[in-house]
Amino acid sequence: MQEDFPIAAARVHIDLDERSYAIDIGSGLLNKPLTYQNLPRAATALVVSNATVAPLYAAPLIDALQGHFSRVLLVTLPDGEVHKDWPTLQLIFDALLENACDRKTVLFALGGGVVGDMTGFAAASYMRGVPFVQVPTTLLAQVDSSVGGKTAINHPLGKNMIGAFYQPLQVVCDLDVLKTLPDRELSAGLAEIIKYGPIADMDFLGWIETNVDALLAKDPLALAHAIKRSCEIKARVVGQDERESGLRAILNFGHTFGHAIESGLGYGEWLHGEGVGCGMVMAAHLSQRLGLVDMPFVERLSRLLRRAGLPVKAPVLATGDNAGRYLELMRVDKKSEAGEIRFVLIDGPGKACVRAAPDALVRDVIDSCAA
Ligand code: NAD
Ligand code: GLY
Repeated sequence: MQEDFPIAAARVHIDLDERSYAIDIGSGLLNKPLTYQNLPRAATALVVSNATVAPLYAAPLIDALQGHFSRVLLVTLPDGEVHKDWPTLQLIFDALLENACDRKTVLFALGGGVVGDMTGFAAASYMRGVPFVQVPTTLLAQVDSSVGGKTAINHPLGKNMIGAFYQPLQVVCDLDVLKTLPDRELSAGLAEIIKYGPIADMDFLGWIETNVDALLAKDPLALAHAIKRSCEIKARVVGQDERESGLRAILNFGHTFGHAIESGLGYGEWLHGEGVGCGMVMAAHLSQRLGLVDMPFVERLSRLLRRAGLPVKAPVLATGDNAGRYLELMRVDKKSEAGEIRFVLIDGPGKACVRAAPDALVRDVIDSCAA
């Protein structure tokens, strides 16, 4: 059994005028009433979690919230990306309405990105908007999905296709919860951390290369730094382009290929972070073929992702015209315009751009990356 992480709290700010909020990062935050002291007082809090996370962390969170709210309710969703859908979202609305929750009710998303995205979407739409707080419990959710206000559910034809931009009141990243996170999920979170290097900060990429073994070993100091730096980079991007009219798209590096892998294999087969990791290798190859980066850069990224325990060979999605299937899936992407796929590419180390690429070149990349 590991000791409690000896980490002092750090705070990253998201600056969005009246929608600004803090990301608190540290050890022993989730179960402390003090953590939530700046939230508005309300009659009801509804904690939304899932069947895996609720038994681990719902009780300490509910205890911490008892003094702040007259009643604290819990709704437990089924676990898994495959449940990021309408019927599961409906369970949150059922709980809110069956308990006559008013429009001041505060929702708490206790879980990974799936719970966070669904709770955020429920908060955005219940009574046309109620406040919510993110309490992310996966590394991926702490460094990415809980921050920035993207909320969504999946559609069988496309990932995260139905949703809203809706910012939380606060994000609470408690390092202690990562102790129970399975290794495969930890690696998936590392994919989103690694993403911030090529698109924005090559020094950070170098730091990750030096510290990847410490991160895999859940070294608390390494995790704290990686979460803080990731949130700082994301905060800077979101602060400039909250609703993705331009710059924010760079945060989707690897996602166009990655989402095709996720939906093409069936949600939940590959983890989101695994799809993004492999997708980054594919997008890096495409960047190289377009003359934007050199091959050593692609190999460097690929090597790091492999060290982080992530797959770098693209799965086959269809017998026969596999590349055609990828292209078909990638056209259903929020960045597509008039049926033209637009990729986030690396335009020299540490800098990203968004642009289209000839189908023949994309086909070539898919074929050469296929497992
Ligand atoms: P997830 O939510 O499915 O969680 C992964 C697994 O870990 C689940 O089985 C979960 O129950 C379990 N788990 C969570 N916390 C745990 C803990 N502390 N101990 C033990 N088990 C734990 O997956 P994820 O990787 O956190 O999130 C992926 C989702 O996030 C995808 O749906 C993706 O589209 C979304 N996402 C959204 C954004 C955004 O900006 N909104 C960004 C990135 C990803
Ligand atoms: N994860 C991509 C974004 O938040 O924009």
